[in-house]
Amino acid sequence: MTTTFPDGFLWGTATAAHQVEGGNWNNDWWAWEHAPGTHCSEVSGDACDHLTRYPDDLDLLRDLGFGAYRFSLEWSRIEPEDGEFSRAALDHYARVIAACRDRDLLPVVTFHHFTTPRWAAASGAGIAGDGAGWADPLTAERFARFCERAVARLGDEIGMACTINEPNIVTLMGWLMGMFPPGRENDLDGYTRATETMIAAHRRAVEILRAGPGDFPVGLTLSMGDWAAEPGSEDRVPQYRAHHEDVYLEAARGDDFVGVQAYSRTRVGPNGVLGPEPGVEVLPMGYEYWPTAAAAAARHAAEVAGVPVFVTENGIGTDDDEQRVRYVRESLAALAQAIADGVDVRGWFHWSLLDNFEWAFGYRMRFGLVAVDRATQVRTVKPSAAAIARIVHANALEP
Ligand code: GCO
Repeated sequence: MTTTFPDGFLWGTATAAHQVEGGNWNNDWWAWEHAPGTHCSEVSGDACDHLTRYPDDLDLLRDLGFGAYRFSLEWSRIEPEDGEFSRAALDHYARVIAACRDRDLLPVVTFHHFTTPRWAAASGAGIAGDGAGWADPLTAERFARFCERAVARLGDEIGMACTINEPNIVTLMGWLMGMFPPGRENDLDGYTRATETMIAAHRRAVEILRAGPGDFPVGLTLSMGDWAAEPGSEDRVPQYRAHHEDVYLEAARGDDFVGVQAYSRTRVGPNGVLGPEPGVEVLPMGYEYWPTAAAAAARHAAEVAGVPVFVTENGIGTDDDEQRVRYVRESLAALAQAIADGVDVRGWFHWSLLDNFEWAFGYRMRFGLVAVDRATQVRTVKPSAAAIARIVHANALEP
């Protein structure tokens, strides 16, 4: 049986500035990669040199038949010091957006994808003290000012805007798990303040981006997943979801869409989060092969936020390219079922276009449709790209 997606369903791929551009030395992540004692396995370095190679990369995307490209603006390039804006950096992103338009790719622009300029991350001017970054309420105001300047230059040609990418991961990894800057562990107070600042920043950004120039849908993107409870722990799932997902989904009510990003499943038992279930395949990322995650997350997001859903990231980090095709097909089949059940899902973005810098894991996780030779920067389109391109072309999953 062929499963067809709705007319106008948006097919895209996604990247983020720090993971592909290269040389983003002026943000907190670069500093973190180079600091002693972090969990980072390697530094980002030249990444995929997408900063200069973006025209060729966008050619590949057009040739594969995708309709959209999601990428992020690097705040630390655009505002290298507090209140000092780079016209040249804004011009660069204007060229990237124009290059998307030239290739009939809808430019989907993320304003914050994990990285914060060093000066803002080191913030000590607000109430929270030195190095508070997003735990400092002032960071929301600074982000708002950046959005104002960026949209003034770029807004006319933006196709869709994501304010903040996975604010829930920035706060979880940065203030509870010590995996992202500022590297705090079990800092509940910082976590709470960072969550509040992220939500305030999102609300301000929605206001600013909606005021134009340009007229495009605005929303945030959230890290979500499927959830499962051990018998007897069922009531713990809503507790986890409340602060990891629902607080943001509630803040997204009234937005133009919500971006759902899901890869796997989280299991909960009486003592908290559990690892993979014995018998379920485990991926290099350490989590379960769980291809129905995006569909489950889309259902929950639609229910709580009550706005249209785009799956703004979904994919698999694997060296087995056939496994990638299997994962994507199973994910899309479950998504099609959710759509048939009435969930308003309007698009799907493959993470990622290129094999790239997977944060603390470095380059050994391969999420791309296109392989990148780290020494030569030569691109090789993987067989999975062709298989997924056929789905995009047909707007359907054929048997
Ligand atoms: C995200 C991540 C991406 C990751 C991807 C794979 O938005 O979750 O930001 O940057 O690379 O999720 O783990």
